[in-house]
Amino acid sequence: MEVINVINSRRSIRKYKKQDIPNEKILQILDAARHAPSASNIQPWEFVVVKDKATKEKLSRVNVYGKFIVDAPVAIVVIGDESRSPGHWVEDCSLAVENMFLAAKALGIGGCWVAVFSLDSRGLEREKKVKEILSIPEKYRVLCIVALGYPDEEPAPRNLRNLDELVHFEKF
Ligand SMILES: Cc1cc2nc3c(=O)[nH]c(=O)nc-3n(C[C@H](O)[C@H](O)[C@H](O)COP(=O)(O)O)c2cc1C
Repeated sequence: MEVINVINSRRSIRKYKKQDIPNEKILQILDAARHAPSASNIQPWEFVVVKDKATKEKLSRVNVYGKFIVDAPVAIVVIGDESRSPGHWVEDCSLAVENMFLAAKALGIGGCWVAVFSLDSRGLEREKKVKEILSIPEKYRVLCIVALGYPDEEPAPRNLRNLDELVHFEKF
């Protein structure tokens, strides 16, 4: 698929076929993640790949908007080493996640971001829960959980803001 087509046709997928994703494909997706740009090339990201049903069940209870994690064949928890990149771990890890979505799409796999980190107090609570579930060391932050699977839905078209609303040439 052409890169622009992959980007423009990517959608969040929350319903998945039972089909497993082979580790080879998971690693291809995470290889794309590690090619993302990062501030000062620090690459603060790490990934916890979860296939175990009981663990996915626990993760699916961290955020009410992430219940579908339990039915996703794979959940990838995206963590950032804040001690190595205190100022930019969020942006760096977010770029890695978008690379994951795009690589997944190119492989016929769909996914959805489930929020863990957020700037309000709920984010810290969710991070604490995920760190407990997965025994993640204290110095790491938890950005999100990426649910992945072969799509079993075709989301309805969503509204996109028009370019002319967003783009300002030369001055605002
Ligand atoms: C920071 C962020 C947090 C999100 N959190 C959730 C979430 O907790 N649960 C969920 O189902 N979708 C979540 N999403 C997915 C968005 O709802 C989705 O990207 C948006 O509705 C646009 O749809 P699209 O991805 O199909 O283009 C999140 C996306 C982002 C970027």
